[in-house]
Amino acid sequence: MFLKYIVKGDRELCGSVRIQGAKNSVLPILAASILSNDKCEIHDCPDLSDVRYTMEILEAIGCSAAYENGTVTVDSSSAFNCEIPPHLMRQLRSSIVFLGAVTMKMGKARMSMPGGCPLGARPIDLHLKALKALGIKAREEAGFIETDASDAKCAHVHLAFPSVGATENTILAAVKIKGESLITNAAREPEIVDLCNFLNAMGAHITGSGTGTIHIEGVASLKGINYRIIPDRIAAATYMCIAMATGGEIELENVKRDHLTAITNELRDEGARVEFFGERGYIRAPGKIKSAAMIKTMPYPGFPTDAQSVFMPHLIKGDSTSVIVENIFENRFKIVPDLNLMGADIVTEGRSAIIRGPRQLSGAHVVAPDLRGGAALLIAALSAKGESVIEDEGHIARGYENLVENIRSLGADIRCE
Ligand code: EPZ
Repeated sequence: MFLKYIVKGDRELCGSVRIQGAKNSVLPILAASILSNDKCEIHDCPDLSDVRYTMEILEAIGCSAAYENGTVTVDSSSAFNCEIPPHLMRQLRSSIVFLGAVTMKMGKARMSMPGGCPLGARPIDLHLKALKALGIKAREEAGFIETDASDAKCAHVHLAFPSVGATENTILAAVKIKGESLITNAAREPEIVDLCNFLNAMGAHITGSGTGTIHIEGVASLKGINYRIIPDRIAAATYMCIAMATGGEIELENVKRDHLTAITNELRDEGARVEFFGERGYIRAPGKIKSAAMIKTMPYPGFPTDAQSVFMPHLIKGDSTSVIVENIFENRFKIVPDLNLMGADIVTEGRSAIIRGPRQLSGAHVVAPDLRGGAALLIAALSAKGESVIEDEGHIARGYENLVENIRSLGADIRCE
């Protein structure tokens, strides 16, 4: 789906937006829903292409999946197929999270390697090592992965890196294996906690989610439930950065302040006023942005890698030099040439981006390289003088629901063709 976003920037954006449910919660929770032989209703699911593709995967294995008014209803009682077709696996990287769930549901699974991604190689070695530790046979051949759960057994799985996806796959594989399994060096992201809360509501016995050590006591069966997804912390960070880059003020409805600590601390250090009242947040940009001495992306609860791109546009207006170090992915500075085309002065050196400010951006014709990079270029266009065009082959729609409508409601001159 090729789109063009046309933006006339340099307006202070003010107003209120509702934050969508978390994309990176919905995807593993939809995979988890097949572990019951029941119907699950998952509420506050954002209408994103990644969610739609995941529903197609559910249907490919024989489940029924319907989307209505923010609720996805999945019935996995008729699941019959253990194979996910390559064209669906390639649509999104997170399709790999079906590996553990389908293997345990059907006793075996066959699927191609997941979609690559502009962020880097994104191998799945940690996923396969974890499943093998659980006694699951996993074979890679000609770009396909085949698994067999006939000898599955509870185990201690230690992850060499706290991979979000590998942690999710390990949980989904272990949750119905009889006995006590343990995951050490597990990812601690809020989306992992959301997945475990969903599974426990279905009848699982998982403790320790949100810490690096997760205990799983396998259960024989899980039941269908109704469940509401947590708010999307990266979408919230994106709108906070829109306020920063345009000198405006934005009220956020549906946020969890505890999920935004690293983001909030950084923005306050940059001079922003950030307040929380229950499930609502508020940000007011400072008249002058203090540059970020050093932002280092780290596994949660550190500064999230998904937020570093959307922080760049306002740091270009910073009062001196900011440094961003990207420690999670090897190729997540792809928007730098286009930001420099708009008038920024950013130099990248390995995993570091050095942003020299203050600079005023001017509109230009740019291309979205990935999901968060596309959002960042939109933010840059909102703060730039003049008109910008952002070409996008569908990256932004993967992760942001109603982005154009929300930005327009804040007072922006933006349209999409
Ligand atoms: C999840 O990706 C998120 N996606 C990403 O969000 C997010 O950036 C990432 O976690 C880190 O927080 C979803 O949840 C759908 P990882 P995931 O496994 O699970 C390496 C977005 O914009 N690695 O924690 O793929 C990997 O290459 C997306 O919403 C291995 O080496 O991330 C990367 O360098 C982008 N071997 C690092 O670990 C493996 O087997 C972190 O990856 C697995 C991962």
